[in-house]
Amino acid sequence: MALAELGHQVIGLDIDRTRVDRLNRGDSPVYEDDLPEMLNRNLDAGRLRFTTNYAEAVPGREIVFLCTGTPSLSDGEADLRQVRAAAASIGANLEPGTSVVIVNKSTMPVGTAELVAGIVAEHAPSGARFAVVSNPEFLREGRVLHDILHPDRIVLGGDAEARATVAALYEPLGAPILQTDHRSAELIKYAANAFLATKISFINDIARLCERLGADVTVVAAGIGADERIGPRFLHAGIGFGGSCFPKDVGALSRMAEGAGLHPGLLRSVLEINREAQRRFVTKADELLGGLDGKHIGVWGLSFKEGTDDLRDSPAVAVVEMLVERGAIVRAHDPAALVNAAARLPGIDLCQDPYAAAEGADAIALCTPWPEYATVDFAQVRRVMRGDLVLDGRNMLDPALLENAGLRYVGIGRGTSAVSDPIPQTLSVQ
Ligand SMILES: NC(=O)c1ccc[n+]([C@@H]2O[C@H](COP(=O)([O-])OP(=O)(O)OC[C@H]3O[C@@H](n4cnc5c(N)ncnc54)[C@H](O)[C@@H]3O)[C@@H](O)[C@H]2O)c1
Repeated sequence: MALAELGHQVIGLDIDRTRVDRLNRGDSPVYEDDLPEMLNRNLDAGRLRFTTNYAEAVPGREIVFLCTGTPSLSDGEADLRQVRAAAASIGANLEPGTSVVIVNKSTMPVGTAELVAGIVAEHAPSGARFAVVSNPEFLREGRVLHDILHPDRIVLGGDAEARATVAALYEPLGAPILQTDHRSAELIKYAANAFLATKISFINDIARLCERLGADVTVVAAGIGADERIGPRFLHAGIGFGGSCFPKDVGALSRMAEGAGLHPGLLRSVLEINREAQRRFVTKADELLGGLDGKHIGVWGLSFKEGTDDLRDSPAVAVVEMLVERGAIVRAHDPAALVNAAARLPGIDLCQDPYAAAEGADAIALCTPWPEYATVDFAQVRRVMRGDLVLDGRNMLDPALLENAGLRYVGIGRGTSAVSDPIPQTLSVQ
């Protein structure tokens, strides 16, 4: 879509007929600010259309982007079945006498460029020429259009001539272009996501320490983030990271390290601390409410982060499931993800606004940092609740505001909120 916006003729292919039909109607299948406008603008201008037919999508193209999913297998390794199938279909639809650049856009384990080239070659007619370029994507869900049009950098791996073709395509964006070999390009994507996930798990580990030692992790994060070598981003303690990328990419990198004969101790800890952040949040609710069985909990936020309706690997969903497992009765609100939630969490009472989710609740559990939760009328929330506890799983609410409204605020890693992990007798905190 962004390429169409830059003036190119683009045809998008997906094997999912429903998705393709919706896109051709100008109906975006994902929630993302400004996406419907850009989709319709480019459909109307005749620069963009969608198909399920490879024979329509591949012949006559100079550049083909391969951007299928690369989900996790049960052991964490990347599942390349979609990539293999797409590579075979692209190969089978190349034309003799033409030259095409195939761009690996998906997040693909090191060595996948060679794999894709081999599969395409196996299915291509003789006389069809092609080259593969590794060009991982760094966009963030919730900021997709901004990130595609204003990337921090573009990474291209492969042979120089093919890289030059792709570099020319991106030139109008004015972003720095890092040109390298396939394997380095592929690894850059995994290393970038693993580093960001590590920052989150690091601050969550510090948050745990803050609870034991009586410090406030929001202040500690501000203090360390002010150091320009560290930076303030990805230092928000909470119930951890989720989504379709961080957990799967850290898992896949960990498997790559194991496959290379290494012990991925740090990466495994990053994932374990993340899972623990969600368990600890539920345990905190359990302890503060004197048990969860039969308790009414209002959950605010279900998507894995704000700005998206994506529930894949959402920490909020994990929290809801754990609450229910421990006998709690959950009513949940999300500004964008209710349709997806109806399918993903069939037994949960889904509410159209945060007040309805708070109705009769013993506690509110804020799980996704949608900005609108910071500005709800907390006096109204207090009136409709049965209890007074607000568990802020994202440290985004103002404790004073809540306390003024008669609510009991408990965040993550905010010293005095410690109820789990009592200070061991042997530890001095003087
Ligand atoms: N979602 C993100 O924010 C994000 C960011 C950066 C990188 N990535 C990477 O981009 C890739 C795609 O991610 P996603 O979130 O869009 O995945 P997704 O699962 O939402 O979408 C993948 C699409 O590929 C289609 N597909 C499957 N097999 C196909 C085939 N043989 N031919 C054509 N289409 C086929 C599916 O129908 C689906 O619509 C992944 O590798 C992911 O890691 C995603």
